[in-house]
Amino acid sequence: MYLGFDLGTSGLRAVLVDASGAVLAASDFAWPVDHLHPGWSEQDPTHWVAGCTQAVSDLRAKAPQEFAAIRAIGLSGQMHGATLLDKSGDVLRPAILWNDTRSAAEAATLDATPDIRALSGNIVFPGFTAPKLLWVEQNEPEIFAQIDMVLLPKDYLRYWLTGEFVSDMSDAAGTSWLDVGKRDWSAELMAAGHMRRDQMPRLIEGSESSGQLRDDLLAEWGLTGSVLVAGGGGDNAVAACGVGCLHEGEGFVSLGTSGVLLAAKESYAPAPETAVHTFCHALPQTWYQMGVILAATDCLNWLAKNLGDSPATLAERLPQSISGPSGTYFLPYLSGERTPHNDADIRGAFLGLDINSGPQDLTQSVMEGVGFALRDSLSALSATGTELKNVLAIGGGTRSKFWLESLATILDLPLQVPAKGEFGAALGAARLAMVADGRTISEVMTPPEVSETIQPRADLVSAYNDAYQRYGAFYPSIKEVLS
Ligand code: XUL
Repeated sequence: MYLGFDLGTSGLRAVLVDASGAVLAASDFAWPVDHLHPGWSEQDPTHWVAGCTQAVSDLRAKAPQEFAAIRAIGLSGQMHGATLLDKSGDVLRPAILWNDTRSAAEAATLDATPDIRALSGNIVFPGFTAPKLLWVEQNEPEIFAQIDMVLLPKDYLRYWLTGEFVSDMSDAAGTSWLDVGKRDWSAELMAAGHMRRDQMPRLIEGSESSGQLRDDLLAEWGLTGSVLVAGGGGDNAVAACGVGCLHEGEGFVSLGTSGVLLAAKESYAPAPETAVHTFCHALPQTWYQMGVILAATDCLNWLAKNLGDSPATLAERLPQSISGPSGTYFLPYLSGERTPHNDADIRGAFLGLDINSGPQDLTQSVMEGVGFALRDSLSALSATGTELKNVLAIGGGTRSKFWLESLATILDLPLQVPAKGEFGAALGAARLAMVADGRTISEVMTPPEVSETIQPRADLVSAYNDAYQRYGAFYPSIKEVLS
């Protein structure tokens, strides 16, 4: 038996998986995010430990015998967050999360430093870890002076589980301290970020063992023998493991809180100027590239909140099938944007509203705006030479047929929808535990069963293409007006 934990932004999901990879039981635990000031996003790491403890007792209650047979645990986590520890291993301040943009100025300074992009393979985005530490140095010097160790969120959970300071390549790739090609901490990057190697955890691959579950937890959880904890990885890399997306040409589009278009890479081919992220995969000698948009289903949630409806109700009011682009445009930059603009300050807009525009038109244009933003990511990926052949569609937004068909048509790509079941980062984490326990990557990391393939509507591709060209023209004007 294997256990997978996915430590997300809004909560933890835990799954208990058998040797065949089937999920036997799952448990969820929600936690809050604190936004003390505009652009700030923090979390108290004690929630992560409490969520893990709660999920474990829930799984034990649901499947006691199976739980008692656990051999290995895998971890997935929200990336980029800075958890700062003093020399006793105590947390110095709430963790600063990936969607916190307070360090935009520090990120811009780091990003302009010679060689940073060449070594890290990426733009230093405001959400990444290194600029957060420069912010702490400037604004909370008494805390900065006490930092003995910096851990990413899932690595803090690992520290609690094992007592070990370890990170994996895929999560470390999002810090701007890692040489992503060499898969090692970079002396130059750490110096640019005013950090030292002894403040960094030891690095391993996601499918290697990072240590053993602490004896007191073994006893508390009713386990015997030893239980290893695998390296695990950043949420997108681990989700890619969950859907078997490991080889060139394989990818997924995710309509989650944020939106992601991800392509697996068997070689390291960064192209930071495109604002595409190039990170280590959670498996050895593998990388991935992705475009990230900061608000996908978040845009629909925002609209629903303001219309006093639920996102599902808004989506259900649309027809099953598309009939052409809306005349209204929505720029989905509610939280700024990463790919392709790297612009923490830009904000969203509706354009082309009509006296007759109603909730349905707004819902359609929000879904299309998210689709166009993901098309920007597809163009950015193409500019790096990355081609996608098999694309799975995952995330909560894929429950809407309308959204899926408009996305397939905007991207002009068939989208494969997995059959119902578990295929997210929690499963990916359990799969990494299986490989760390000695199973082979090819037997464990298989693609999910596909329930249907949504084809682009050939009769509408050119109309959506025209609409996309118009959408693209809005960003520079809106930027000028807002700045
Ligand atoms: C990736 C990213 C998000 C977070 C939160 O760069 O910022 O995927 O990991 O899910």
